Amino acid sequence: MKTKAAVLWETNTPWSVEEIELDPPGPGEVLVKLAASGLCHSDEHLVTGDLPFALPIIGGHEGAGVVQEVGTGVSWLQPGDHVVFGFIPSCGRCPSCSTGHQNLCDLGALLGLGMQIADGTSRHHAQDKDLGLMCLLGTFSHHTVVNEASCIKIDDDVPLDRACLLGCGVVTGWGSSVYAADVQPGDTVAVVGIGGIGANALQGAKLAGAKRIVAIDPVEFKREKAMEFGATHTAASMADALPLIEEATLGRMADKVVMTMGVGSGAVLAEALALAAKRGRVVVTNIHPALEMSANVSLLDLTLMEKQVVGSLFGSGNPRADIPKLLGLYRNGQLDLDGLVTRTYELDTVNDGYDDMREGRNIRGVMIYE
Ligand SMILES: NC(=O)c1ccc[n+]([C@@H]2O[C@H](COP(=O)([O-])OP(=O)(O)OC[C@H]3O[C@@H](n4cnc5c(N)ncnc54)[C@H](O)[C@@H]3O)[C@@H](O)[C@H]2O)c1
Ligand SMILES: [Zn+2]
Ligand SMILES: [Zn+2]
Repeated sequence: MKTKAAVLWETNTPWSVEEIELDPPGPGEVLVKLAASGLCHSDEHLVTGDLPFALPIIGGHEGAGVVQEVGTGVSWLQPGDHVVFGFIPSCGRCPSCSTGHQNLCDLGALLGLGMQIADGTSRHHAQDKDLGLMCLLGTFSHHTVVNEASCIKIDDDVPLDRACLLGCGVVTGWGSSVYAADVQPGDTVAVVGIGGIGANALQGAKLAGAKRIVAIDPVEFKREKAMEFGATHTAASMADALPLIEEATLGRMADKVVMTMGVGSGAVLAEALALAAKRGRVVVTNIHPALEMSANVSLLDLTLMEKQVVGSLFGSGNPRADIPKLLGLYRNGQLDLDGLVTRTYELDTVNDGYDDMREGRNIRGVMIYE
């Protein structure tokens, strides 16, 4: 069949919205008509080359839609089912999946090539070339074919333009606070960078019972929005946050620091560690350029104060458990998804969405299809 998708042919060029050829789903695969896709900063890393995935590639990894057709062997999904895509597939059988760490499923090793899990080939083609899929999904498309390992079935009554956010930003941010940082009641938490990920780190910290939540972002609009997602204090930079946290905690500093800047930077890690208390934990959720190999860290600080630095992928959550769980919190009024969507776009205006992201005008931009 023919469909329309946003393709990146070369780094540092705009997304090219064009007609593509889509093959039917093979064994273990699912054809989905997408309803909406969030615009996450990770797709921007494809454009800049910070994430060196194989090109050409269809962007997008934060999508939700309706199943149209299933390939042989897919017994648990049928046409009409609503699904959110997990940006890491989960096979359910590898050591990570079977020990409750689906975010680290061994199938994640295939992400860089972007080809189908089943046989390493592509169902998506344009201009006589095979197209890879961002996170094996390619949600910047009206239709896609993905492996069943990437699908999470959800209830039919959840609006898909909100549910899509659970595929990446919401669980990643919320879990960075709740799981990776392990925020405890009474903690002081700093969140550095208030985009789609940081806003949800604020929400997670609040629900986990943090006493003080300091939102740090150079953009005034982000600091204003941060207060709606649970921040109790704001600062324009880590340098400005330092005296603020020092005063508020009588010098003890932040129990948890969650790094969710647009582009991670090793140069600022020492500043983040300076915000952390004794035994404080810095969670590195933001993606650093693949070639960055050094960080500015006081290692003495680590030893003498037992500070910790931990990485977090998908908020250290389990897509199959956490996506339905967080949708339940949304239903219950304990998680704000509506306020995350600042602006909506069509597939044709995907580049406008990324301009708005670069300019700091969105918490999350979402493309609505049809
Ligand atoms: N680990 C994971 O599983 C995972 C998943 C999704 C996204 N990410 C990464 O998380 C990061 C955030 O993604 P996003 O979609 O929220 O990005 P975004 O662009 O929407 O938001 C980033 C925010 O960081 C702010 N910022 C930039 N420099 C800053 C600085 N020096 N100090 C404080 N704030 C600063 C920006 O003003 C912006 O508000 C990206 O690197 C993204 O690739 C990681
Ligand atoms: Zn993402
Ligand atoms: Zn697995």
